[in-house]
Amino acid sequence: MRDAAPGKIFLKDYKPFGYLVDFVHLTFDLSPHATRVTTKIGFRPNPEAEDKTFFLHGEHLKFISATIDGMPVTPLITAEGLTCHVPPHDFVWETVVEIDPANNTALEGLYMSKGMYSTQCEAEGFRKITFYPDRPDVMSVFTVRINGDLPVLLSNGNKVATGPGFAEWHDPWPKPAYLFALVAGELINHPGRFTTKSGRDVELNIWVRPGDEDKCAFAMEALRKSMKWDEDVYGREYDLDIFNIVAVDDFNMGAMENKGLNIFNSSAVLASPETATDLNFERIEAIIAHEYFHNWTGNRITCRDWFQLCLKEGLTVFRDSQFTSDMRSAPVKRIADVIDLRGRQFPEDAGPLAHPVRPESYEEINNFYTATVYEKGAEVIGMLKRLVGDDGYARALDLYFDRHDGQACTIEDWLTVFQDATGRDLSQFKRWYSQAGTPRLTVEESWEGDRYTLTFTQETRPTPHSPDPKPQVIPIAVGLLGPNGDEIQPTTLLEMTDATQSFTFDGIPSKPVPSILRGFSAPVALDRKVSREERAFLLAHDTDPFNRWEAGRALAREILTEGARTGAPLDGDFAEGLRNVLRDDSLDPAYRALMLALPGQSEIAAALHAAGTVPDPMAIWTASETLKDQIARLAEAELATLYEEMQVREPYAPNADQAGRRALRNAALAFLNRRDGAMRARAQYSAADNMTMQLAALGCLLAAGNGVSELEDFYDQWQGERLVLDKWFAIQVMQADPWGAVPTTARLTQHSDFMWQNPNRFRAVFGSLAGNHAGFHAADGAGYRLLADWLIRLDAVNPQTAARMCAAFQTWRHYDAGRQLNARAELERIAATPDLSRDMTEMVGRMLS
Ligand code: TRP
Ligand code: ZN
Repeated sequence: MRDAAPGKIFLKDYKPFGYLVDFVHLTFDLSPHATRVTTKIGFRPNPEAEDKTFFLHGEHLKFISATIDGMPVTPLITAEGLTCHVPPHDFVWETVVEIDPANNTALEGLYMSKGMYSTQCEAEGFRKITFYPDRPDVMSVFTVRINGDLPVLLSNGNKVATGPGFAEWHDPWPKPAYLFALVAGELINHPGRFTTKSGRDVELNIWVRPGDEDKCAFAMEALRKSMKWDEDVYGREYDLDIFNIVAVDDFNMGAMENKGLNIFNSSAVLASPETATDLNFERIEAIIAHEYFHNWTGNRITCRDWFQLCLKEGLTVFRDSQFTSDMRSAPVKRIADVIDLRGRQFPEDAGPLAHPVRPESYEEINNFYTATVYEKGAEVIGMLKRLVGDDGYARALDLYFDRHDGQACTIEDWLTVFQDATGRDLSQFKRWYSQAGTPRLTVEESWEGDRYTLTFTQETRPTPHSPDPKPQVIPIAVGLLGPNGDEIQPTTLLEMTDATQSFTFDGIPSKPVPSILRGFSAPVALDRKVSREERAFLLAHDTDPFNRWEAGRALAREILTEGARTGAPLDGDFAEGLRNVLRDDSLDPAYRALMLALPGQSEIAAALHAAGTVPDPMAIWTASETLKDQIARLAEAELATLYEEMQVREPYAPNADQAGRRALRNAALAFLNRRDGAMRARAQYSAADNMTMQLAALGCLLAAGNGVSELEDFYDQWQGERLVLDKWFAIQVMQADPWGAVPTTARLTQHSDFMWQNPNRFRAVFGSLAGNHAGFHAADGAGYRLLADWLIRLDAVNPQTAARMCAAFQTWRHYDAGRQLNARAELERIAATPDLSRDMTEMVGRMLS
């Protein structure tokens, strides 16, 4: 049978489990279709718990036997787990079950990927391995024996015994079951070492399938840097003698922080200059850091229940952003994070999938690994840090690690630590965790005598979760510029707590130009009527790099929304402003490349919707093309100069400096390509000796309607490299024009390399379709229909990835009646599919409600 459906789960219903677990001994007898799992658990009644119901989760398990203290018992088994009469004192529980990893296509629990065994237990996958209290507040020490004739047998913790056909692992750190991991296969290791600051010598390994061993060096270096950084910045040391990372081809997400045995999507580990782009390298560095940082924020201190997911994810995303800022460029990282937040989290918060950073109910927890929990969760921590200051933050974090090490905690615990460490009352701040929706901030200014006043008003759209939103604490970083562009008021932090609030600056001799929300100091939508001249002034003079970029971004957004709404020719203000930025050699190339990146078409659609206009995807596409043509024409000289100047002549290295120059060169190429008959792109394609330059050139050729032979050539060159083949699939859909997107996607689904059960390949094709705004939103509904067809097919084998991808429909109500009709029909068709998963049922239900 399919997944069990226990209905809605509520935060307010939390109760501790009736038993404590003193130890867990797991024995795996591996076999592709009949792996035996013998589980021995030391239970003891939990004195803190009133309810002593003995319920163990278990799904899709073939029950063989159960004993209590050696005596056979007959538990009552349902689709969700088992109950049994148990003694009122300590007892040893033992079960034997059988599972079928080879037929596990959901990639949750124990499954097989290309001949290797692997696990994914977060959030609730351990119950597909054995009967267990599968909840994060039940922590225990695990000992694992793996019997199998594969050369590499791995689990959490330290290896305590090994011999032909078996290995035994012991993890001394108590942990919840979601951090359990097992890997077995014919794997090769890329070894490394790290000595911690107190002198512990740690063995590091990255395990990959044969053929991939030459793509591990970068990830190993990233791991060593992460370990050092966490010691230097947070004082956190690694706590085992070995740290293993394994790369797996079939994986639902980026990676998983299992204690001492991180498991990674191979796309988040493997890289060589020839096969990976600069962005791939940067993402790998960030994900390695993220999973490593979880060792303290997630593993040593974990979550009491899944409603507290942001406790570990928001904090760990915040930490990995800090790491990337330190390793690379802080302003560039900040801008990239805000682009991502606006691109993924703002739409979520503005639509039917909106939920608080700490949700209060769910049907399927896998549906809550969202941009809101992760990215907005990280923004909330960034605000907290700004409000209490760097010292306050450092004291609070020390107290957090001190007080809660070894515990399963809540957001209340987290905020209490900050209150205790800094003396600050955070009761109002806590609303950031409980209210959904993006606050909209409007501003009025006045200047009289030498007093300058800024008056802010905040407003949050009511959602079903928060029907009556209250004012939130908003840290607003502000600076003031004088008429000649000098900074007359350096960045100062205003703390807004009321619905409407004024802040005054005295001794301001002339009307200043304000630079508001510097560094994007709060995840709000700043809605301020600003003249084109003022934006251009900020673009030229703002000393805050984020707001300088933001000025250009806002200008481009306004020009595009106006162009899409009226169809009128676009004025050249933005292109003019850009020319100055492009010529400014004092600016980091990576930063200038971000200046050249125009707001995406879905961002324009969202802006139109927010302003009360129904977005027309074709009009947005046309405006966007027009602006690109205009920039290419007006800034051609600057772009051509940059294209030459930014050529990297040293041997390829994936560092921030080189990556920045390549990014700017490729950004220039995309514009020049509109004027030079794709001459440069063709030359760049043939000369490229790394994937960054090769793929960018191919993208330009496809965008220009060329590149047929290069596309074939690329396929021939890379058909043996699955991660590169993903790029080959993706780029064709991304670069297709609005008429070509759906037919191209449909054709690619017929390709013999379209291994649709592999999440990376499925995402390469359908993630790109969803990202091709005008193509996906084709007026005849063909984009919606094609995606729905495949989501229905995928849901039957992998509900988790299918449900994540169906969020592509979340903005469907923003469009015109015809599109709404088409989208609704597809959502209803999905909803009516027999045996639809719980994951999909919840997602589609929320989007239709
Ligand atoms: N904890 C993981 C992370 O953020 C997320 C994750 C990986 C995950 N795989 C998963 C969550 C599968 C749910 C299901 O690093
Ligand atoms: Zn995480």
